[in-house]
Amino acid sequence: MTDQSAAQAVPAEPPREIAVRASHVSMDFGNGVLAVNDASFELEKGRFLTILGPSGSGKTTLLQMIAGFRRQTSGDITISGKAVGSAPPHRRSIGMVFQRLALFPHMTAAENVAFPLKMRRFDLSTIPGRVSRFLDLVKLGGYGDRRIHELSGGQQQRVAIARALVFEPELLLLDEPLAALDVKLREEMQLEFRRIQHELGVTTINVTHDQREALVVSDDVIVMDGGRIQQHANPVELYRAPKNPFVAGFLGLSSFVEGAATADGNLKAGDVLVRGVPVGDLAEGAHVVAAIRAEQIRLAASSGELGSCDTLLDGTVVDTIFEGERQMYVVDAKALPGTTFRVYHHDPDGFGLFGVGDSVAIGWNRRDLKIFSPAAQR
Ligand SMILES: Nc1ncnc2c1ncn2[C@@H]1O[C@H](COP(=O)(O)OP(=O)(O)O)[C@@H](O)[C@H]1O
Ligand SMILES: [Mg+2]
Repeated sequence: MTDQSAAQAVPAEPPREIAVRASHVSMDFGNGVLAVNDASFELEKGRFLTILGPSGSGKTTLLQMIAGFRRQTSGDITISGKAVGSAPPHRRSIGMVFQRLALFPHMTAAENVAFPLKMRRFDLSTIPGRVSRFLDLVKLGGYGDRRIHELSGGQQQRVAIARALVFEPELLLLDEPLAALDVKLREEMQLEFRRIQHELGVTTINVTHDQREALVVSDDVIVMDGGRIQQHANPVELYRAPKNPFVAGFLGLSSFVEGAATADGNLKAGDVLVRGVPVGDLAEGAHVVAAIRAEQIRLAASSGELGSCDTLLDGTVVDTIFEGERQMYVVDAKALPGTTFRVYHHDPDGFGLFGVGDSVAIGWNRRDLKIFSPAAQR
C-alpha cells in the first residue's frame, strides 16, 4: 500500500481477488479450426461462473486447460496467480465432477468421499469426521455405509459432489455433471449446487449447454460459440442485453428481423419501419439484424387492443403450440414477407384463443427490440 492510499480518509474497497485468469488462450488440435480461440476472462474468488454454449463450442476444452489436463497452444492460464501446470495434478487444489461420475462402485459412499483425503495424506484421525461433515452437506447423512449401486442417480451425484469438495479445494470444476439426469432431478440438483456453493464459498466453474441452468445457478456466465467467447456478463445482463444475435438466439426464444439501418437508428424492411434500440453503431443503410423475445411481443385480435405498443404489425397465425404454462403462437407478419414471430401468451383463460389462419395484431415497445450493428453480428 502506498503512503497516499494509506492517508485516505475513506478506506478503499478491498482489492478484488482474482482466482482464475485466462489471457488470450487458444487450442489448436491441428484440424483447421481452433477449438478455443483467443479466450480471455477473469473470475473473482468465491464466485460461480458458468461456461454456456452449444455442443462443440469449446467448453470442455477450455475447462480441461484450466484443470491442467491439456496444455493450450497459446496464451496463459493462472489459478491464484500461479500458472496452471506448475504443480503436479495431485498437488493441485481442484475438485472436479464430470458427467461420468467415476465413483468407485465397490466402495461405500463414505469410502468414496474419504478417497481424496487418503490420496492427499490427511491425518487419518481427522478423516471420519470430515467425511461425515461433507456427507451432511450434501444431505446424505446416514447414507455413508451404502454402496454406490444401492444409491439413486441423484444420491450418487451427491456423493460425487462431496468427494470433489471434501479436501476443500480452492477451485471446483464441473463439466455437465447434470446432463444425464431427468429434468426434475436436474433442476433439483442445480439448486443444490447453488446452495452448496453459497455455503462453502468455493470458486466454481461449471460447463453446460443448458441455458436455464446457467441463469439459475451462476454469478457470471460466459457464452461460447465456435471456440470464441461471445459474451461475459451476469445472468440478468446477459438476458436483457445480449451483445450479438447469437447470444440473443441462444438464451430465451427470440425472433429476428433483417433490414437496413435508418439515419435515426431504427430498421427499415421494405416499406416497414421497425423501431428498436441500436446495439453498436448503425451506419445509415447498413444491413442489420434485430431480435425480440417471445415474451416481449404482445398479441391481440386487433391493433386497437395494443394501444401502448410503439410498433404494431398485422399478422396471421401459422402455428399454435401448447406448452403447459403458456401457449406459443407462430405469427407471419403480413408486411414483412419471410419474417416469422414467435409469441408467448400466458393468459390461462386465453389458451386456444387463436387458431391457425386467424388474423391477429402483434406489437412491442421500442426498448425491447435490439438492432445489432454489422460489427455486433460477427
Ligand atoms: N482431442 C481432440 N482432438 C481433436 N479435436 C477435438 C478434440 N477434443 C475436442 N475437439 C474438437 O474441438 C471442438 C470443441 O470441443 P469441446 O471442447 O469438446 O466442445 P464442447 O465441450 O463445447 O461440446 C469440437 O469441434 C471438437 O470436435
Ligand atoms: Mg463438452
